Amino acid sequence: MWPELVVGAAFVCAVTRGDNFPSLLTTNATLAVIIDREYLGSEYSPIKHAIESYLVFAKREILKHGGVNIQYYSWTSISLKKDIMAILSVASCSDTWRLFRAAEDQHLLHMAISETDCPRLPPDKAITVPLITKGEELPQLLLDLRTTKIYNWKSAVVVYDDTLSRDLVTRVVKSLTADSSNLRVNTAALSLLKLETRRTPMNVIRASIKDILSSVSIKTVGRNFLAIVAFEIVELIMEYAKSLKLADTKNQWLYVISNTNFKYKDIKRFKQLLSEGDNVSFLYNNTVKSSTCTGGLQCHCEEILSGFTRALDEAIVLEFETSSQVSDEEWEAIRPSKLDRRTSLLQSIKTYLLQYGECDNCTSWLMKAGDTWGREYQQNASSSDSSAELMSVGKWRPSDGPSMSNELFPHVAHGFRRRNLPLVSFHNPPWQIIKTNESGAIVEYTGLIFDVVKELANTLNFTYTVDVVKFGRDSDNNSSNSIREWSTEVATAETNFIPELIIEMVKNKTVAFGACAFTITDKSKRDVNFTKAISVQSYTFLVSRPRELSRALLFMSPFTGDTWLCLSAAIISMGPILYYIHRFSPVYDYKGISKKGGLSSIENCIWYMYGALLQQGGMHLPQSDSARIIVGSWWLVVLVVATTYCGNLVAFLTFPKVDIPITTIDELLGHRDTVTWSLTKGSYLETNLKYATEPKYRELYEKKIEPRSYKWMIKNIVDGKHVHIDWKMTLQYIMKKQYLESDRCDLALGLDEFYNEQLAMIMAQDTPYLEIFNDQIKKLHQVGLIEKWLKDYLPKKDRCWKNRHLVEVNNHTVNMDDMQGSFFVLFLGFLLSLLVTVSEKLWHKYVTKKRKKIIQPFTT
Ligand SMILES: *[C@@H]1O[C@H](CO)[C@@H](O)[C@H](O)[C@H]1NC(C)=O
Ligand SMILES: *[C@@H]1O[C@H](CO)[C@@H](O)[C@H](O)[C@H]1NC(C)=O
Ligand SMILES: *[C@@H]1O[C@H](CO)[C@@H](O)[C@H](O)[C@H]1NC(C)=O
Ligand SMILES: *[C@@H]1O[C@H](CO)[C@@H](O)[C@H](O)[C@H]1NC(C)=O
Ligand SMILES: *[C@@H]1O[C@H](CO)[C@@H](O)[C@H](O)[C@H]1NC(C)=O
Ligand SMILES: *[C@@H]1O[C@H](CO)[C@@H](O)[C@H](O)[C@H]1NC(C)=O
Repeated sequence: MWPELVVGAAFVCAVTRGDNFPSLLTTNATLAVIIDREYLGSEYSPIKHAIESYLVFAKREILKHGGVNIQYYSWTSISLKKDIMAILSVASCSDTWRLFRAAEDQHLLHMAISETDCPRLPPDKAITVPLITKGEELPQLLLDLRTTKIYNWKSAVVVYDDTLSRDLVTRVVKSLTADSSNLRVNTAALSLLKLETRRTPMNVIRASIKDILSSVSIKTVGRNFLAIVAFEIVELIMEYAKSLKLADTKNQWLYVISNTNFKYKDIKRFKQLLSEGDNVSFLYNNTVKSSTCTGGLQCHCEEILSGFTRALDEAIVLEFETSSQVSDEEWEAIRPSKLDRRTSLLQSIKTYLLQYGECDNCTSWLMKAGDTWGREYQQNASSSDSSAELMSVGKWRPSDGPSMSNELFPHVAHGFRRRNLPLVSFHNPPWQIIKTNESGAIVEYTGLIFDVVKELANTLNFTYTVDVVKFGRDSDNNSSNSIREWSTEVATAETNFIPELIIEMVKNKTVAFGACAFTITDKSKRDVNFTKAISVQSYTFLVSRPRELSRALLFMSPFTGDTWLCLSAAIISMGPILYYIHRFSPVYDYKGISKKGGLSSIENCIWYMYGALLQQGGMHLPQSDSARIIVGSWWLVVLVVATTYCGNLVAFLTFPKVDIPITTIDELLGHRDTVTWSLTKGSYLETNLKYATEPKYRELYEKKIEPRSYKWMIKNIVDGKHVHIDWKMTLQYIMKKQYLESDRCDLALGLDEFYNEQLAMIMAQDTPYLEIFNDQIKKLHQVGLIEKWLKDYLPKKDRCWKNRHLVEVNNHTVNMDDMQGSFFVLFLGFLLSLLVTVSEKLWHKYVTKKRKKIIQPFTT
């Protein structure tokens, strides 16, 4: 299979395994040289001759430790044999790509020399050298940047002037839009804007730039701008782009300046035109003009072959040395595969070309990007230094394409590039919590706002130092208004006023933004811009928890008062009715039954009916049918009444009776005679109510009172005499605190939530970063992170939260509270019977005494 096998066990192994490459490079490798006769035309024979003679030279002079077999082809539609290790092709773009794809899975080393405007073969698998006419490298350059995804634009606005000839315009457009599906890059939608600059006076150029740029609408043409213009025009375009607000944090501007070269370039002057938040990069001609510059097809062929043979020679030496140090079996295990060999050969050829490559080497373009984001806030830099800088981000050469040291638009890829931004904040839980240790040093920043800031710092890639402002609250502590006592523990709605100091710092850009939650008000909007709302707080009120009513009269509650009245009336009236019917019935006379005893007295009848009501049947039953009918129907009534009572009593035992709570503003105003209320002083709500037109809100504002102290307020709320209105969140804190202190749930929140107050961070008005901050905050809202963070800071749910209005229903065991009423009745009965006994006794005594006094006449 391999004619050039050096005898050895390893090779036998390799062959029997069917490996498609011999084990050692010391055997002659095969290089296929494909020179397309059709593509080269008349140049074909001189080039072929040159290559042949160079290879003879290279084999003799360079490849000292091995050999190489060379096969020549003069057309590209060949089928590549398996033993070929590398290809050198000189062919048109499409043929080059076809060759590459045909040999792709054989891991061949492909060295291609092709026409201009040809997408390069994947750089990890091949070397591509496009043959470029001097001065026309722009299309290839833009194509290279696109295919290597240095910019990945879906749309672009191309502004060009006369430095780009008509022929080049077509090629540039093609290289920006051509579909290179095998490289998986987006095709871009282009909008072309031409500037007429040749022999045009400057003021006309200015006017036409202004005209052209003001017609651009970012919504329709996208945010990417490519300006291919002369050096003199760049400044004008930058000026107008700025004044028309086309340069900002989201738009990308790439200026391609072609009429510069290594002598005539003063890119630094554009520095002054860069401002905070811009994404501007420059790509400019750095071509050297000198007599030593060489180029052309033959030069490239020889250079590549020289690199290849050198790399091959090195590889042979390396492999030979390694294999001689290990046993055959070990070598078998560690020897490089065909893929490894390609990678290492490719690497060393590239290194060689980078170091010693001379062909077309005078042509080069440099890339610089404006380093703008966050520079304004660098305090330690001197004032001249705080303006934007230009940084080198890459370089382009025809032979090896773009080589980047950074992103073309560093801020688009890396945000603030880990710059340190100064922030201002103050302690205001739960929004900003600034933790200090015993010695007063700040150890941690937490709170909702800092959670958001940390996330922003992560995504926008900045670090921050916080300037902590101490104001108001602490010094106010000893003022008469002792409501403030608790405002140091929890935030209240009192953040409405933004301290002048913070506004001042944000306004004059000492700090990048205010990392504090402020209420968005129209008044503050005059001085600063607010970010999107971080949180929306609604107001509600704190009332006493509706109390369970006393259960002493529980046994009475199954029936309403009039039912009870009817029932007692029925008992009292049914007795006499029974008595009269019983009495008038002639049955007793007829049957000769004595009418004495039993039901023959009115009170006995009443007792009987009462006994029947309690389902304690009497001893006597009337004999007459008429009376029995009465008794029977009474029993029926008793059945219904008793069953209803029992059922209802059970229900009342399980469902406790609760006071009617105050849940809405209307109810609060309805209780205005018994209940007072208070608002947090200086809050957004107070300001709003002051100017409210609705009568109920006006009344709410006008009749408010000032609580004497926090303790007084809580006590009165618990007693049901006072109501406090504040952020729902603050009230939850108070409830929690009260619960922890008293272990009782005495407080509840109203159901009405009104006046949503938006809280946001503040930024300077002309800052370019408001929009990207807003985008990030919006994202955080969408994924629900902010809500989750806020929840973490709120008081945890406890039993006071669960049932604001319903007390626990299931699983109620009857206790003394429920039973006390019946015992009370028993006691009453006992008292009554005692009373009756005493009076009976007295009556008896009186009667006997009277009897003794009157001497009875003796009768017989
Ligand atoms: C390598 O090829 C050259 C010429 O093609 C030949 O002279 C030499 O013998 C070959 N080497 C081996 C090891 O086959
Ligand atoms: C780049 O500069 C060189 C040297 O001045 C010049 O010959 C060449 O035409 C320039 N390239 C372009 C695209 O203008
Ligand atoms: C942040 O910026 C630094 C400096 O430019 C960069 O190295 C890093 O990759 C960036 N990080 C992110 C996540 O973009
Ligand atoms: C407080 O923190 C500062 C800074 O981290 C540290 O230097 C100091 O020792 C700490 N003090 C105490 C009492 O932990
Ligand atoms: C920032 O404030 C200015 C001045 O009030 C206003 O014109 C502008 O619209 C605000 N920006 C945003 C994004 O709200
Ligand atoms: C009812 O209460 C008892 C004692 O308090 C408890 O053990 C039981 O789990 C409760 N049952 C239900 C259903 O809540």
